Amino acid sequence: SSLPKAIKIRLDEKDPEKIKLRKGADDQERGTRVKVFGRVHRERKQKDVVFITLRDGYGFMQCVLTGQLIKTYDILTLARETSIELYGELYEVPPGAHAPENRELHVDYFVIHEGWKAAGGDEAITNRISKDTDHSILMDMRHLTLRGDVASSVLFVRDAVEFAFHQTYRETKLRKVSPPALVQTQVEGGATLFKFDYYGQDAFLTQSSQLYLETCLPSMGDVYCIEKSFRAEKSLTRRHLSEYTHVEAELDFITFSDLLDHLEHVMCRVLEITLADPIIAGYIKELNPEFKMPERPFKRMKYTDAIEWLNEHDILNEEGKPHAFGDDIAEAAERKMTDIINRPIFLTHFPVEIKAFYMPKDKDDSRLTESVDCLMPGVGEIVGGSMRIYKYDELMAAFKREGLDPAPYYWYTDQRKYGSSPHGGYGLGLERFLAWLCKQHTVRDCCLYPRYMGRCTP
Ligand code: 4AD
Repeated sequence: SSLPKAIKIRLDEKDPEKIKLRKGADDQERGTRVKVFGRVHRERKQKDVVFITLRDGYGFMQCVLTGQLIKTYDILTLARETSIELYGELYEVPPGAHAPENRELHVDYFVIHEGWKAAGGDEAITNRISKDTDHSILMDMRHLTLRGDVASSVLFVRDAVEFAFHQTYRETKLRKVSPPALVQTQVEGGATLFKFDYYGQDAFLTQSSQLYLETCLPSMGDVYCIEKSFRAEKSLTRRHLSEYTHVEAELDFITFSDLLDHLEHVMCRVLEITLADPIIAGYIKELNPEFKMPERPFKRMKYTDAIEWLNEHDILNEEGKPHAFGDDIAEAAERKMTDIINRPIFLTHFPVEIKAFYMPKDKDDSRLTESVDCLMPGVGEIVGGSMRIYKYDELMAAFKREGLDPAPYYWYTDQRKYGSSPHGGYGLGLERFLAWLCKQHTVRDCCLYPRYMGRCTP
């Protein structure tokens, strides 16, 4: 082409400051000449002007190109997602016009360096994914859909929420530890174990770090971790992943009621910290316009009362019959109940038979355990927790009842030999918490690259 690649003007000037496209940036930069880098999020070509919405992961900026610049080959053939370096002066947008942060860059110079161009034509990103693309294809294209507004907003919220958990645990004096992912003991039942060959021995991907957290109490006091947990879930639901991020904590010398109070505080404080950032609050508002801070105290409801409630509301069990004591409340029934009650619920005191081996019995009713699930509207269970059996003989009896060989758990049972204590803890599924907060239909959209039955790519 005979067209110039780019028009070089004002090169005599001192190299301007390179800025990020911060959201909520102050007015300081207005009127100054700056240099920005990013990708072409959108572009709009008019007769005498080309508008580029630039994206750099920190924000968006409207860039206005006119004159000779828009007659260049690079701009005439510009494809979305092309990386570009732009120079210009920042101005307030004219009255009546709209642009991110109410500012626009009047571009006087740009460069699209070698290798920076995005594919166009059939290969253009808009030809590979659109709003109507099937969800499973979108998942194959996750590396590209991540560039979209919704996916990236959820990930920004996720980043903020994870940070808020760390901050909240700091404030409440919990110490962070990193238990192993490769283990030789189960925590939540054999059905969902991922088994693999470990130098000729059987080993598993961890289902929960709980047992390891318990071993930290004597030396470190209250502890937490944010690690991956793995579950070989053999069904496709909107809230089950094979690999998920598990926020787990363990607290020493507490009562069951202390555990519930702590859990309520942590969840509310995390929300408070997250929403205190106006940019993150803005993302949440866009994703979930009806979001309200949950009312405290959370509703507390015993399992036996939930069974009654379900029957009063004609919500049947999985066999199509009224619920009876001992039934595991299935996902559908649980969600119906939570949606009708429409506020967070601490569902407590589940029967021994449907809960894990390590849960102690309720002092007032030996059919029940000191256990809690936290249920949220739209998602259902997002937290599972309990007190832990801390007496040696009781724990051994529980292993026996569940048909578990206690031998590989020697490091766990030893805790009951050397200064045991009443303690308890919980695990919160980060993706489920986010699905609730960001009103996402599925937890799959709340992680970077979701893993579930049938998917381990990209
Ligand atoms: O109720 P769960 O199985 O409890 C435990 O693992 C305890 N050992 C945790 C503890 O006390 N430290 O799992 C806890 C939470 C669930 O409430 C749910 O939010 C999440 O982990 N979870 C999953 N999230 C996504 N996909 C899955 N397959 C999940 N399984 C559990």
